[in-house]
Amino acid sequence: MAPSRRQVLAGGAALACVPLLARRVRAGDGGFTLDARPRPLALPGCSGPTPAWTYADAWPLELRVRRGERFTATFVNNLADHNAVHWHGVRVPNAMDGVPYLTQAPVKAGERFVYDFVPPDPGTFFFHPHCDTLTALTRGLAGVLIVEDPREDGLFDLDQTLVLMDWRVKPDGSLDAITSDKAAARAGTFGALRTVNGGPAPTLTVRPGARVRLRCVNVDATRIPMLGMTGAEAMVIATDGNACDPFALKARPLGPAMRADIAFVAPGEQGAVVLLQDIWQATPVLLARIETQGEPMPANARPLALPAAELPQPDLARATRLPLELAAGVDDPAIEEFRRLTGFTAAQICTSEKIFWALNGKPWPGASHENLPPPLAELKSGQSYVVEIFNATPHRHPIHLHGHTFQVLGSSKNEIPPHWADTVLLEPKERTQIAFVAGEPGSWMLHCHIIEHQETGMMGYYRVT
Ligand code: C2O
Ligand code: CU
Repeated sequence: MAPSRRQVLAGGAALACVPLLARRVRAGDGGFTLDARPRPLALPGCSGPTPAWTYADAWPLELRVRRGERFTATFVNNLADHNAVHWHGVRVPNAMDGVPYLTQAPVKAGERFVYDFVPPDPGTFFFHPHCDTLTALTRGLAGVLIVEDPREDGLFDLDQTLVLMDWRVKPDGSLDAITSDKAAARAGTFGALRTVNGGPAPTLTVRPGARVRLRCVNVDATRIPMLGMTGAEAMVIATDGNACDPFALKARPLGPAMRADIAFVAPGEQGAVVLLQDIWQATPVLLARIETQGEPMPANARPLALPAAELPQPDLARATRLPLELAAGVDDPAIEEFRRLTGFTAAQICTSEKIFWALNGKPWPGASHENLPPPLAELKSGQSYVVEIFNATPHRHPIHLHGHTFQVLGSSKNEIPPHWADTVLLEPKERTQIAFVAGEPGSWMLHCHIIEHQETGMMGYYRVT
């Protein structure tokens, strides 16, 4: 019988304290190595292994670096096709952004590439490929990058990453369909097996009164869980890894690629239970269970807040306004003509043959990155921009801009205070304004992070000069 989502996620209570911390890695002298290759993965509830693609033997991999430290990672491509690594949410130099053809030459099978930069901002980030992303990401090719801030040392008694991902697998662990036209043109394809850190919902044990930080990272290509917590007063302290003015976690949707750092003080008595759940449906789905045990922690009056983010503040009064409309795509005859002339196949152009979505009326034309379509807009480095995004579709879209951390100013639907982000989720018919200072010159992708949408037209880029 197929493991139902609830069965699998609810199974965690029995497996107290999986050794989650063992997956954390710090760089050795030569930096990190990301050895991307097919590896079988034992997923919970499956009778056989899943042919996953991973960067290391452990899944998920969590790399940790201190803010201000140089970060180097040698990407070794032991996969069959070319690839690269995109550092989602990190304000990297353009040449380190990991978009094949656009920001670097593709790393061919058997070759390697060294990513080398100093992450400017602390926070919870992740990394993944940027070509044939649907195939790679649904096979698990993603990892977490935590940039630690020395100013946060000692703020929390438990600092735990929770990687949310669903697997498109059958009960025997083999791969199931990852897309269909019907799903790609709607909300996307959902995996049948929901996991947290590759397993069932974990149980974490903390002392009464412990200060807990949960870094939720949604690496799924489709699902948008609605985070909610019972048993403690949970605060959101960082959005997409960036410190925010803490606000109460009531029900917060976490679109693909989005991160939420949630903090709370565990109840003061022994045997108390705190639940992190996806409360999207009437029956909540357990994501993590936190239990108190042992001696109570000594009282600690420090507020549950991170040091304020230090990001370039857009000048709203002088900002240039840019419209961005998310819409259903049209199969533009120009695309067909382009394909006919160039003979490029879908694989060569990092997209599918199908177009269901568009940005400002233009679907990503499937052009080879060597023959780029025009940018969505030309921006001037150092100048401020406000992008007014309108979701004209009946579906939700998490929109991501590379290499920039923007301020979500406000929205026609959502009441949360302005906050920093790199991915903003738009509900159907929602209008949202985001503001940022254009960064380093180069081409910076902007796309929906529901990967089936991205690969069927909802993709473009800004050119910063
Ligand atoms: Cu995680 Cu182009 O994105
Ligand atoms: Cu979308």
